[in-house]
Amino acid sequence: MSEKTWNGRFAQKTDRLVEIFTASIGFDRRLYPYDVQGSIAHCRMLASCGIITDAEATTLIQGLGKIKRELDHGDFVFDEGLEDIHMHIETRLVQEVGKVALKLHTARSRNDQVALDMRMFLREAVGQDISVLQELRKVLVHLAEKNLDVIVPGYTHLQRAQPVLLAHHFMAYLEMFTRDAERFADCLKRIDVMPLGTAALAGTTYPIDPAYTAELLDFPAVTANSMDAVSDRDFVVEYLAAAGLCMVHLSRLAEELILWSTAEFGFIELPDAFATGSSIMPQKKNPDVPELVRGKTGRVFGNLMAMLTLLKSLPLTYNRDMQEDKVLLFDTVDTLQACMTVLCRMLPELIVNRQVMRKAAEAGFLNATDLADYLVNNGMPFRSAHHCVGQAVAYALENGKELHELTLEELNSFSKQIRADVFAVLTPEAMIDRRKSAGGTASENVKAAIAQAKKKLGA
Ligand code: ARG
Repeated sequence: MSEKTWNGRFAQKTDRLVEIFTASIGFDRRLYPYDVQGSIAHCRMLASCGIITDAEATTLIQGLGKIKRELDHGDFVFDEGLEDIHMHIETRLVQEVGKVALKLHTARSRNDQVALDMRMFLREAVGQDISVLQELRKVLVHLAEKNLDVIVPGYTHLQRAQPVLLAHHFMAYLEMFTRDAERFADCLKRIDVMPLGTAALAGTTYPIDPAYTAELLDFPAVTANSMDAVSDRDFVVEYLAAAGLCMVHLSRLAEELILWSTAEFGFIELPDAFATGSSIMPQKKNPDVPELVRGKTGRVFGNLMAMLTLLKSLPLTYNRDMQEDKVLLFDTVDTLQACMTVLCRMLPELIVNRQVMRKAAEAGFLNATDLADYLVNNGMPFRSAHHCVGQAVAYALENGKELHELTLEELNSFSKQIRADVFAVLTPEAMIDRRKSAGGTASENVKAAIAQAKKKLGA
């Protein structure tokens, strides 16, 4: 077992159980690239401020580079007794370059070090989220474009309501994912603040230059208050909340794919490569991919709640509780990216049953509003038109017909203002194309939205 860097005041050896219990190396090892990069910047800053010599800095930086390569290649030996990734790298550096390594930790503590690593990890993860979201948005735009002439019932209360273009439905998700990307970009502003040099909590007595460290690590700002800098995990909460909301959107899409692929709907079929079978029922083709996207959403919400609970009532400044933040953050980052990536791959392969969708859009009185609007255009007040069409619907139901299947004579028994031109008004195409109001489903609107999105996304 390696000697601990902090054991100067301890008379007893740490209990093995405590070592195992307190260790974070099992999960925080993935912070190593940021930890090394942060340490290298710290060395440069210490040298430029005359706190260590240039020669010492060069030795430390070379040693850190070698350790990074060992970690990259899986040649690094881990030891739970060394708690975390910071201790591992420092201890290995002593073995590698000797006593000079003991100077690396001048003017910093693990508290600001881990805060830096978390911020560096997360800004990279957020960058990846934004680019996967960009991919997902491109996929949706292409899917919309491919299905521009497909008509599907739009629903409220999961009851057929009015016909819409399938493309319009997909473009609704584009809006959600655009907001998600904006939210991630916004939380990046608060992640991108450099805390190193705060030391344990109160600042340091050395004449350091955190602005230089920030410049080396490409941070646009430095934390303003040392106590806040080591106890702040708001940026993690914000990210987990943004990720949770993004999962809400993914799970709504997933739920529709699940519903739409049932025999009851029959609107779509999932590609075989993205469906799974049953171990007992040979006929089954199950939508496990969207089901798992839906299912994993719960864990992502849970991580947000766990993080809020972790921070609630914590006294300033750093408390070991905060070590748990990594488990939650890493899990959410991995889950979100996995869900988005699998949907990016699956969506272009969706098999759309346009005939089934179209038939569904023609049944269930989806043109009732349009018949009322027709009467309004002929001078009837909307409420009276609504009542009149309601009676026509009741009559049609009794006679097993749709509104457009009633004869002009039958329609005239409800209003004399209905003429033969009504039938052209009641087709799904006509209903859709009349909805030219801003953001409505008219083909010209949807085409324009697709063109605009393609331009914006470079799709
Ligand atoms: N492994 C610790 C964490 O992730 C690093 C910071 C430890 N600081 C301390 N004072 N024990 O939070």
